[in-house]
Amino acid sequence: MYCVREVTKDLYWVGANDHRTTLFENIHPIPRGVSYNAYLLLDEQSVLFDTVDWSACRQLLENLEHLLGERALDCLVINHMEPDHGASIEELLRRYPNLKLIATEKAFMLMRQFGFHVDGHELVEVKEGDTCTFGGHTVTFIAAPMVHWPEAMLTFDRANGALFSADAFGSFIALDGKLFNDEVAFDRDWLDEARRYFTNIVGKYGPHVQKLLGKAAGILDQIKFVCPLHGPVWRSDLGYLIDKYDKWSRYAPEEQGVMIAYASMYGNTEAAAQALAARLCEKGCTKVAVYDVSNTHVSYLISEAFKYSHIVLASVTYNLGIYPVMHNFLADMKALNLQNRTFALVENGSWACKSGDLMQKFIDEEMKNMTVLNERLSMASSLHADKAVELDTLADAIMDSMRT
Ligand code: FEO
Repeated sequence: MYCVREVTKDLYWVGANDHRTTLFENIHPIPRGVSYNAYLLLDEQSVLFDTVDWSACRQLLENLEHLLGERALDCLVINHMEPDHGASIEELLRRYPNLKLIATEKAFMLMRQFGFHVDGHELVEVKEGDTCTFGGHTVTFIAAPMVHWPEAMLTFDRANGALFSADAFGSFIALDGKLFNDEVAFDRDWLDEARRYFTNIVGKYGPHVQKLLGKAAGILDQIKFVCPLHGPVWRSDLGYLIDKYDKWSRYAPEEQGVMIAYASMYGNTEAAAQALAARLCEKGCTKVAVYDVSNTHVSYLISEAFKYSHIVLASVTYNLGIYPVMHNFLADMKALNLQNRTFALVENGSWACKSGDLMQKFIDEEMKNMTVLNERLSMASSLHADKAVELDTLADAIMDSMRT
């Protein structure tokens, strides 16, 4: 059965929702699903903007057949060639052999690398600033390299104000009938998953996103719809969305608050983390989030690290090193280029307490623009009452640092 939504006159969402895939990119859990968005413009020519994951190809085909009727599909614009969007290209070429493919040079290169048989079809290579007319609609192509792959571009249709934004402004969570940002409680129900999507997928490429935001600023007054490849279409509150993207891509915290991530083997480091959280709350901090790195997928930890201004790492020493899952969290923060945070450290070790020095070394030497507070809480096996002053001193140092 077809399942389409009208975005605006002559423009339709023809994508699909996916609740079966458990791991996006086979690594990030998506318990609330994901949508693969594709959009069909019915002008003098029919134009599809991107395709969908192979698992959703049948739904896309039914949607197209419903809207096209006897018409053929004339053009396919590929803004992003990653297979969660590009995988259905070859099937469309089989069904619509006269389909004209419009993409960047690198996108065509990737199609061939992935083994798609595109040669022999009409291929139109476009670059920044090029335009294409389909009848009443003329679109302009905007290069967006590394948002999130090197071939990515955005397409802007001045006639209806639709910006096809590829992965930019996307989110995890299946749409399930909803389409627009004003049909969901975004800040309450979607923001955490939008941040988790951005920070884990595109987070590394902040400077490229900043460049793209600069280009978008030039046409902001003309944008009426932001049509990403995942998540809701934005037709209001663009300032809210752009503010979030600006903060995330500048590695600026969204909230003055404290994330406490602990790595605990027998519950003693966990108890110290809980005691610190209670002290912080007692002292008036209203934003404290505590996570066990052993049972929280690192994609959630990354999202929270991008959200908060302060991060407490509490780790046992393991084989004279940092506890492996904590080390993995540090490595992921580094890989995703997180910057401009203040860290506090809590260390534990029963006979050779090393984790504090090692975490400090990692932050100082491997990460950019980070501050580590001098106050450190150290314990041998477990935290005893004689450490109450040190615990309080650490909480005070974090509170003081949040005020400056
Ligand atoms: Fe949703 Fe970079 O693909």
